[in-house]
Amino acid sequence: MKQLSRSFGGLRAVDDVSFNVEKNSITAVIGPNGAGKTTLFNLISGALAPDSGEAYIDGRPIHRLPPYRIARHGISRTFQNIKLFPHMTVLENVMIGRHIRSRSGFLSAMLRLPGSRAEEQQIQERSMEILALMGIEGIAGQEAGSLPFGKQRIVEFARALATEPSLLLLDEPAAGLNMYETAQVSELITKIRGRGVTVLVIEHDMSLVMNISDMIVVLSSGKKIAEGLPSDIQKNREVIRVYLGEDNA
Ligand SMILES: Nc1ncnc2c1ncn2[C@@H]1O[C@H](COP(=O)(O)OP(=O)(O)O)[C@@H](O)[C@H]1O
Ligand SMILES: [Mg+2]
Repeated sequence: MKQLSRSFGGLRAVDDVSFNVEKNSITAVIGPNGAGKTTLFNLISGALAPDSGEAYIDGRPIHRLPPYRIARHGISRTFQNIKLFPHMTVLENVMIGRHIRSRSGFLSAMLRLPGSRAEEQQIQERSMEILALMGIEGIAGQEAGSLPFGKQRIVEFARALATEPSLLLLDEPAAGLNMYETAQVSELITKIRGRGVTVLVIEHDMSLVMNISDMIVVLSSGKKIAEGLPSDIQKNREVIRVYLGEDNA
């Protein structure tokens, strides 16, 4: 990420932000509400175009590409608000992620057009493997919308993984989860990294962030105010000030 900026009207939501994400690391993006974290993800995934600045994956520029082409560069994401297809089964939701990788593509997946049978079979098998990896193969046939929130989150992970990303963007994966589910999610994130995926995660749960991150980037009012190891960030005066300021507001 090089000097990425994006404004909404007069508001500089992401203001000249640069940082590197080490391959196969877990890097956390933290900061108070409205700091520009989600906007940053929107810029990386192509949901929003930057006003200026550049983004690269494996040295290749992605900042002028539409989202579907960025996805083909191996970037996948989950959303702050879960976006599953509620009336499809868990397996179908994950298969849609998988279809993005396949020849017949996302549109035919949405329209449920049949690809070749062999291809369909392969996608189904691979999707089941991903469900098993996430420990939710037992609910493959259930309607996604009927599941408890914590389970839906894990289905979202599985769908993002189905595209076989090299970079996974997770926007507040522990939001709304209880302590047990949060622990489960942090274990899954570590497991995902263990499969060679680079993870960039926005999260408010500080114990999760401190436990799993290799590096932390801190945003406040659109600007990067700190970057470093968890142990350094914990002691950083500016970071402490920003967080205490938020608590006192
Ligand atoms: N699409 C948009 N249109 C206008 N303002 C936006 C839009 N998206 C975000 N913002 C504003 O940009 C700022 C940063 O938002 P966001 O990136 O969602 O912050 P965070 O994820 O850190 O809480 C906020 O003030 C927000 O209101
Ligand atoms: Mg956000």
